[in-house]
Amino acid sequence: MSAATLKVAVLASGRGSNLAALLAARERGELPVDFVLVGSDKASAPALALAEAAGVPTMALDPRAYPDRRHFDLALFDRIAASGADVLVLAGFMRILDGEALTPWVGRVINIHPSLLPKYRGLHTHRRALAAGDREHGASVHFVTAELDGGPLIAQARIAVQPDDDEDTLARRLLPLEHRLLPTVLALLASRRLAWVDDAPQLDGQPLRTPLALGEHGLRLP
Ligand code: GRF
Repeated sequence: MSAATLKVAVLASGRGSNLAALLAARERGELPVDFVLVGSDKASAPALALAEAAGVPTMALDPRAYPDRRHFDLALFDRIAASGADVLVLAGFMRILDGEALTPWVGRVINIHPSLLPKYRGLHTHRRALAAGDREHGASVHFVTAELDGGPLIAQARIAVQPDDDEDTLARRLLPLEHRLLPTVLALLASRRLAWVDDAPQLDGQPLRTPLALGEHGLRLP
C-alpha cells in the first residue's frame, strides 16, 4: 500500500521563484505532493499571486497585528496546522521563527538557504562568501530547528566562484540550482525515503550524517 500523498504548506516573503519551481515540478509530475497552503508575512508578496494562479489556497498574516514574535508565530502555525499540512517548506521566508511555536513542528519544517551551511547563516550570504575569498559557494536545504539556519543539513548544491563574480552574478548562477535542489529534497520527503527519526534525519533508514550533493542526475551521497 502506498503512503498517503504528502500535504505541503509553503511560507514565502518575496518573489517566490523557489515556490514557482515547486509548483512547476508538481505540474510536470515530478513532485507528487498536495500544496494545501501558501502563506506570507507580506500581503503584497508575488509568491502569493503565484500560488493563487496555481489554485493553491493562500494566507497573509501581518506581524504588526500581533503583540510580539511569539504570538505571531503561534497564530501562523495554528493556520498551518488547520490547513492539514504534514510538512512546511520555508522558501524565502525572511523571518526568524519563535522556538516555542516551532517546537511541535521540528522534523516537519525544511528551509532553503543560499550558502554552504554551516557557513554564512543569516543574510548577505553571497557578499560574505566573496569577501572571504571562497572558491566555492552554494545553497543548502536543512531541517529547521530553533537555531537560525542551524538545523541538520539534508542536501547542498555547489558552484565555483569565478574571479570576476559579484553578488549579482553569484546569486544568478546559484538560483537555478536552488530551483532543482528544493523540489528534489521535497520529493524525498514525499516518498518517505527521507524522514526525521529520533531527532535526526534518516535516508532509507540510515542516519544522514553528511548532506546529499546535487549533481547532474539529482541527489547523491558525497
Ligand atoms: C532564495 O535565495 C532562498 O535561498 C533564500 O531566499 C531567496 C528566496 O528567493 N532563502 P525566492 O523568493 O524563492 O525567489
